[in-house]
Amino acid sequence: MSIPSSSTSESPIAAVLEQPYRTGFHFQPPQNWMNDPNGQMWYNGVYHFFYQHNPFGPLFDIRMHWGHSVSYDLINWIHLDPAFAPTEPFDINGCWSGSATILPGNKPIMLYTGRDTQERQVQNLAVPKDLSDPYLKEWVKDAGNPVINLPEGIQSDDFRDPTTAWIEEDGKWRLLVGSKRDRTGIAFLYHSDDLVNWVKYDTPLHQAPETGIWECPDYFPVWVDSTMGVDTSVVNPSKEVKHVLKVSLIDRFHDYYMIGKYSPEEEHYVPENDDLTQISGLRLDYGRFYASKSFFDPVKIRRITMAWVHETDSDADFIARGWAGVQSFPRSLWLDKNQKQLLQWPIEEIETLYGNQVSFQNKKLEGLREIEGSFQNKKREGLHEIEGITASQADVKISFKFDNLEEAEELDPSLVDPKLICAKYHATKQGKFGPFGLLALASNDLTEQTAIYFRIFKKNGRYVVVMCSDQSQSSKKEKEESDKTFYGAFLDIDPQQDEISLRTLIDHSIVESFGGGGKSCITSRVYPSLAIGKDAKLFAFNYGTKSVMISEMNAWSVKSAQMSIEESNV
Ligand code: FRU
Repeated sequence: MSIPSSSTSESPIAAVLEQPYRTGFHFQPPQNWMNDPNGQMWYNGVYHFFYQHNPFGPLFDIRMHWGHSVSYDLINWIHLDPAFAPTEPFDINGCWSGSATILPGNKPIMLYTGRDTQERQVQNLAVPKDLSDPYLKEWVKDAGNPVINLPEGIQSDDFRDPTTAWIEEDGKWRLLVGSKRDRTGIAFLYHSDDLVNWVKYDTPLHQAPETGIWECPDYFPVWVDSTMGVDTSVVNPSKEVKHVLKVSLIDRFHDYYMIGKYSPEEEHYVPENDDLTQISGLRLDYGRFYASKSFFDPVKIRRITMAWVHETDSDADFIARGWAGVQSFPRSLWLDKNQKQLLQWPIEEIETLYGNQVSFQNKKLEGLREIEGSFQNKKREGLHEIEGITASQADVKISFKFDNLEEAEELDPSLVDPKLICAKYHATKQGKFGPFGLLALASNDLTEQTAIYFRIFKKNGRYVVVMCSDQSQSSKKEKEESDKTFYGAFLDIDPQQDEISLRTLIDHSIVESFGGGGKSCITSRVYPSLAIGKDAKLFAFNYGTKSVMISEMNAWSVKSAQMSIEESNV
């Protein structure tokens, strides 16, 4: 039996699916708690997605299971029984995050963290029980587990989340495990001949002071001149590659990454941007997006990443809803032409869910005359409603351009953190060039809205573009505990030369935005009470005193994906 997400039957799961904050096309389990993505892979025609899961309730529980779902297109999912449960001495206190590796000869294995009988974090190996089962439902944990023990001098709860392994020319496998010593975050590097016996190198692949534990490291090559993906274990690639090391910093709850050169002979990684501790550190997403993990998709030769988009409200809300946690929409990622950052873009399969489309070109949003005081009542003047699509479940692409930016305001040189710039220059604070952008999940009276917007400033004779998400009015007023802060990122483009583009995926309680073709991404988790279902509205807006030209706007209704439950799981 399968239960489509639109089911209206009276089963408890169907009731959950009808709640207003359930997503239509972002992955969620049928119910209960979910955090990190784990072990994604494509194997014999099927995409596998595993995730940190508490199958017994909507709250985090250290005795994690691995939820398991499969898909033929990364859009529609079949939910299976959990693949791993904490049952053995080496994982009895939890099966924590890990990664898939496809071995030569097309054999998948999983490496994951177990919390053992003494609550030590150790690394374990598992293999599918039956390779001819298309869904690889059952997994066998290796009798020799743990395959990697806690290193000397490392605290028992500071050693986790093995990466996908890769093989080098010497025929040996390599692997990273996240850790820390005092406040120094570490990616330990191991090698092995057989994936069972692992030896740690004395020198970690990389480490950085004052960053806390490195959770969920992700390490992969990217072509320097192509948007295509590279298999993690490609030895001697035909063209030049760089290596990305992504680490999830729990103290800041953000995913940071470095781009650098890896020389396997010396086991040496030299990042070109080693500024993890600085505000300028590169992040995959400047909003809610954590513990991401990527995988190589051999079908479309691309690298895809997904991340846990955590809730911003309370345990009591999770209990009332019966679930917590959403995954970001799968994103392709590749190296920008400038080789200084990654670009990310929703996978093209989203188009299979497209319904109605609305478009326009060359629409001018006039500058608003300067407004003193009660801006709140006047702000309708700067709006253009995007009608004719389901505004609570949509994909919107919009581009803005300007003729002459000479009068742009000077940015206060003491403001270096884009988040603080966005807080100071929030969505209803009038400027010259900005704020302009989208109001997503807006109520008719505009008391609820999630603004994603840009501002253009001048600094040291150059133009600076800031991309913001203002969540101060996103969620129910009385939901004090939900995140009402501002997210912000600099967008590395020259607004004199290039249009400023924004793509936003809106899905009931998640607003995922891609600025400048995926240069800066901001994801928001929101809980509107008025702007739900048919009552949600979408606007393009300009509250700046200078006019803005929308060169092009295309928006689509996005239909709900099929999320069904395998019979044995109902
Ligand atoms: C990241 C994380 C991982 C760990 C898992 C436990 O969110 O803390 O480091 O393996 O979650 O669920």
